[in-house]
Amino acid sequence: MRSLNSVPRFLPLCALALIFVAATSLGVGSCQSQPGTVGTGVCLQCHDGRSAIDQRSQLESKHRNVACEDCHGPGYAHVRNGGRGGLLIANPRDLPFDQSYDLCNRCHTANVAGYVQSKHATEKGARCIDCHDVHRINGFTVATANNAHHLDNDATQDLCGRCHQPQEADFLQSTHAQLEVASCTSCHNLHKANTFQANPLNNDICLQCHASFQLGFTSDAVTQAHVGAQHPLNPAGNGSGRCVACHLPPVQVAGQPNVTHHHNLVTVPPSASNTAIQAGISPVPPNSCSGIMGCHDVSVPGSGTPYDVTSVADNTFLQSVHDTIGLTP
Ligand code: HEC
Ligand code: HEC
Ligand code: HEC
Ligand code: HEC
Ligand code: HEC
Ligand code: HEC
Ligand code: HEC
Ligand code: HEC
Repeated sequence: MRSLNSVPRFLPLCALALIFVAATSLGVGSCQSQPGTVGTGVCLQCHDGRSAIDQRSQLESKHRNVACEDCHGPGYAHVRNGGRGGLLIANPRDLPFDQSYDLCNRCHTANVAGYVQSKHATEKGARCIDCHDVHRINGFTVATANNAHHLDNDATQDLCGRCHQPQEADFLQSTHAQLEVASCTSCHNLHKANTFQANPLNNDICLQCHASFQLGFTSDAVTQAHVGAQHPLNPAGNGSGRCVACHLPPVQVAGQPNVTHHHNLVTVPPSASNTAIQAGISPVPPNSCSGIMGCHDVSVPGSGTPYDVTSVADNTFLQSVHDTIGLTP
């Protein structure tokens, strides 16, 4: 460990600093000119990986123009103590969940405003700092190839897959992942209340890409032909013409809509439920046509012609209908 001798001497003014340090919380604005600050250069004399954790990458990150002490508060007392035990310096990681975003909110109000309404906040699921590391070049808690400044698809999937393993495993099998044409953040925005990039109810979430000429969903008429006349496009209605209803059905009958949804983005054919029945799996998992709340589900009256997902005959009939839907637009 380095001694304090290697640290430049401070102005006498800094003697006053201890009082300020005690009174300072993370809520303070820019500390640059405040007594008790030592400057980023001093912090990095120790935080270079030899005597303390290496944070030099901060100088190449998006936060390179933000001083260490803008976020950590004045560091004089910490430095004077030789950094020992990591004492006398604020670490935002120690804040309770509900205050964990106050620091970020000083400069990123729009991101915080959406985030606080999302389940990551309301269910105490993930803090900003669970996904973001402000000291790293890419700004994230996961590594990217070649120290890129942004997340690539693999890194995104690693990040989300830490907590959403089923969705990641399923998505990795999809054509979208294999062709590297989409990743979690193509559809999910972590800083919006509903966590979506675009509206799933009017199909915009898929039409962001699938409305383009090459993919073919160029008009409502084309989409209507794809989903079949029995599934009218009606965003405000029961959603029978919604891409997500057929292409991301829930994996189990109970607990909809809060359970995991299939993420390989192809439909689950009714024959898959029959395969499960034959294998003795109970309860029988839903498919894209039956066993889905609001679709052809015996448990919800009026939700389309009811079929029973536990009936081999019903599933066999629905499979024949399924085969007539989803024609290439
Ligand atoms: C004299 C060396 C030294 C200097 C200068 C120094 N630190 Fe440290 N710091 C340490 C050591 C040693 C630790 C504890 C070991 C570790 O975590 O690497 C530490 C820990 C920390 C921690 C973690 C606290 C915790 O929760 O345990 C933060 C945050 C921190 N330093 C920020 C700063 C900032 C900001 C500056 C500049 C104002 C700074 N340090 C300057 C040596 C130093
Ligand atoms: C934009 C705000 C911000 C800036 C600028 C910043 N930090 Fe941090 N720092 C944080 C937050 C938030 C945490 C807690 C979460 C984390 O570890 O990423 C933290 C944690 C730390 C830790 C503890 C790491 C650990 O693993 O326990 C150290 C040490 C540290 N910072 C040092 C520095 C140094 C040195 C600088 C300047 C080169 C700096 N920080 C710049 C916000 C900041
Ligand atoms: C003192 C102001 C300040 C604070 C506090 C702050 N940031 Fe930033 N942040 C910035 C600035 C400035 C940029 C660079 C913006 C740019 O390059 O367009 C930035 C950029 C970012 C970026 C990358 C943006 C991009 O364009 O790729 C992320 C992610 C980010 N901040 C997250 C956080 C998080 C999380 C926190 C809280 C732990 C935080 N910031 C706290 C000022 C701040
Ligand atoms: C540190 C753990 C953690 C990480 C990392 C994480 N999440 Fe979450 N996420 C949660 C928890 C916990 C919930 C809330 C409980 C639930 O709905 O299952 C949640 C909920 C969600 C929801 C449901 C939101 C809603 O309104 O229904 C989506 C979508 C989501 N996360 C997407 C992502 C994506 C995309 C990533 C990667 C960028 C990610 N999450 C990273 C823990 C995490
Ligand atoms: C569950 C993971 C996750 C959480 C929680 C999260 N972010 Fe992000 N954030 C991301 C991802 C992934 C991106 C990359 C943007 C993209 O590709 O859509 C990003 C991008 C950003 C950016 C740069 C782009 C932009 O939207 O301006 C900022 C700034 C940012 N986040 C700040 C925050 C702040 C502040 C918080 C907490 C209130 C937070 N983030 C919470 C994952 C997360
Ligand atoms: C970021 C762009 C993007 C988004 C968003 C997107 N897709 Fe795709 N999708 C593509 C591309 C590109 C292909 C490959 C087309 C090709 O093979 O020519 C594709 C292929 C597909 C395929 C055929 C793949 C297969 O395995 O048979 C289906 C089904 C599909 N997408 C459904 C969806 C659904 C449903 C949504 C919305 C929930 C969606 N996509 C959102 C870009 C996207
Ligand atoms: C009523 C159910 C249903 C709806 C609603 C639906 N699809 Fe499909 N879709 C299917 C079926 C069934 C298939 C053929 C089997 C498969 O690929 O999963 C299919 C296939 C596809 C394919 C692959 C086509 C090919 O030739 O390989 C794409 C792309 C696709 N759908 C996108 C969408 C988009 C985008 C939406 C919303 C605008 C949508 N689907 C709405 C049932 C539906
Ligand atoms: C093509 C668009 C798309 C992509 C790509 C995508 N998702 Fe989703 N995701 C959705 C939709 C739509 C829902 C909501 C399904 C519903 O409730 O009907 C959802 C729901 C979720 C949920 C809430 C729980 C659930 O399963 O319903 C989580 C968590 C989640 N996604 C994580 C991820 C992760 C992690 C990735 C990347 C590995 C990812 N998503 C990629 C469209 C997408």
